[in-house]
Amino acid sequence: MKILLLATLLTCSTLVATDLNTTQPLTAKQEGIKYIKMLGNALKKELQAKMMADMSGIQALEFCTRKASEITQNINTKLPAYAKVRRTALKVRNDVNNTADTLDTQVMQAYVTSIAEKTFTPKDIKVVKEGNITRVYKPLLTLPICLKCHGTHVSPALKERIKSAYPNDKAMDFKIGTLRGVIVAEIEKH
Ligand code: HEC
Repeated sequence: MKILLLATLLTCSTLVATDLNTTQPLTAKQEGIKYIKMLGNALKKELQAKMMADMSGIQALEFCTRKASEITQNINTKLPAYAKVRRTALKVRNDVNNTADTLDTQVMQAYVTSIAEKTFTPKDIKVVKEGNITRVYKPLLTLPICLKCHGTHVSPALKERIKSAYPNDKAMDFKIGTLRGVIVAEIEKH
């Protein structure tokens, strides 16, 4: 009995020790990457499922049209009050929710330059401090799957739906390997 108790105590203290080790506060960069992954994974999972279910892309488009902003909002409600995550691009489809600001534009132009100069790597996370806020940027390249709705040969059926949902759409004619946009997390000092 005594041995059992001792064993339990030992296990517990090991657990506490490990816990203490792992609860080191995250840096703003690590925290930003965590939230970027939350949003990126949520969108990717749904998009892939919808594309598999209907290869014309219509179901997936309906999903993006109605749900992308909602999923973004949902993820944001799960974050601490000092953090936000969103998507933007130099050429946006949803100009109401996703338009870039000056800093976003500068960071994305730097990515475009590094892609042109072949120094770019998708792991190039940029961290920019602006006053109390640290922004963490992850670049999104145009992949083959993106072309269905953002490429040069979007089907007429999809084109028509995109035009009616987004009359100011600029997110067409992308080529594989070019910058489609970024996911950006903003972490306020706390
Ligand atoms: C099925 C169609 C479809 C596919 C495939 C698709 N998108 Fe989109 N994308 C959209 C729609 C619709 C929006 C606008 C969503 C909204 O209202 O926020 C959008 C918006 C975006 C945005 C936000 C900025 C903006 O333009 O409003 C980014 C970034 C983006 N897409 C990247 C990608 C990438 C990268 C891929 C490939 C991995 C991809 N998309 C594949 C339809 C699609």
